[in-house]
Amino acid sequence: MNPKTLLIFFIVSFAADSYGQKSKKFFRSDYTYIDELQSFYKIHSIPRNWTEAKRVCAQEQAILFHPDNDEEAQIFISFWNKTNSGILWLLVGLSDILVEGEYETVDGKSGYDVYKNWFPGEPNNFGGIENCAYIDLLKGPGYLADQDCNKQNSFSCKKTLKSLQWNEQCDMPYLDYTFNTNNGKCYKLHTTPLNWTEANALCRLEQSSLAKVTNRRDAEYLAKLTVSTPTPKVKGKYQRGIYHLGFYNRFDEGWQVVGGKPMLVDLNLWYGNYQPEGENLDQCGAMFFDGRLIDINCDTKSFFICEREVKKVTSPDDIAQQIIQPFVGGGLY
Ligand SMILES: *[C@@H]1O[C@H](CO)[C@@H](O)[C@H](O)[C@H]1NC(C)=O
Ligand SMILES: *[C@@H]1O[C@H](CO)[C@@H](O)[C@H](O)[C@H]1NC(C)=O
Ligand SMILES: *[C@@H]1O[C@H](CO)[C@@H](O)[C@H](O)[C@H]1NC(C)=O
Repeated sequence: MNPKTLLIFFIVSFAADSYGQKSKKFFRSDYTYIDELQSFYKIHSIPRNWTEAKRVCAQEQAILFHPDNDEEAQIFISFWNKTNSGILWLLVGLSDILVEGEYETVDGKSGYDVYKNWFPGEPNNFGGIENCAYIDLLKGPGYLADQDCNKQNSFSCKKTLKSLQWNEQCDMPYLDYTFNTNNGKCYKLHTTPLNWTEANALCRLEQSSLAKVTNRRDAEYLAKLTVSTPTPKVKGKYQRGIYHLGFYNRFDEGWQVVGGKPMLVDLNLWYGNYQPEGENLDQCGAMFFDGRLIDINCDTKSFFICEREVKKVTSPDDIAQQIIQPFVGGGLY
């Protein structure tokens, strides 16, 4: 390798490893980093049942929180208490769904090896239907108890600093988003079919939105993305060959882009060079695999594409660091 190539190599790999988000201790703006626990936490106030809570955390690439030990329980509880959310119960990632009486965490630890400060007499599997644990801030020092997994409660997700990975180009923790240099946006094509509303919600969980098409180049890029993304075999009923996108005409206000602006695109970006007028029940936006825009029923399940605009602010310090640091320790020349 000539010295120049070597230098570039160093800058790139150094920038990715040492100056990645780990050192900045940042995961997502809605998670709080607790240094003593080397982890990020978020309290979700919208009640969900246990399975859904677990899914929401996984979607954020975190796990449904359970305290690993007494220390974590105490530090977490004081964080929880300080949020003044008025939330007094939280589901935790601890259940005996698989084997009655044998509690296990969502990350596969035995209930005997983690925080196990059960309320006296709990878990009692009351009525034979209680397999999911929650933690209670009301009764004392943070007791655990079991309840029906169908019951909805608030919950917390946890992400360890150790498990944090960073997509530098997209400035987000999700590695499966790809950067489009033409418009500075990052995209992910989801191959789990959902209806438009669910797809929109899922993109938002990933801190993105359903993809927006503003011009021909966007459409062409998305069409290419559909070709380059491997399509897994998916069971069940869904509409093949189309992809939900971020526009709709749901409230008789004409076509709008998610976020609320009117949709202004060249008519010939629409399938058939014609913008549908909402004359039928097809009030949601999608595209064919070739990038042509179409209206579809919001209930239709299909693949979909999320996008994230990268608003990365590179401070002069960041640039200086990246260029200067590889020389530290010398030995390059
Ligand atoms: C919660 O905070 C209040 C004061 O803000 C305190 O009196 C109370 O003991 C705390 N509870 C727990 C469980 O930490
Ligand atoms: C949890 O909620 C989801 C969505 O509302 C529902 O489909 C599922 O059956 C529920 N599961 C349990 C175990 O209650
Ligand atoms: C989409 O799916 C959700 C959850 O299954 C359902 O509640 C909703 O009615 C469906 N359709 C629309 C248009 O949101």
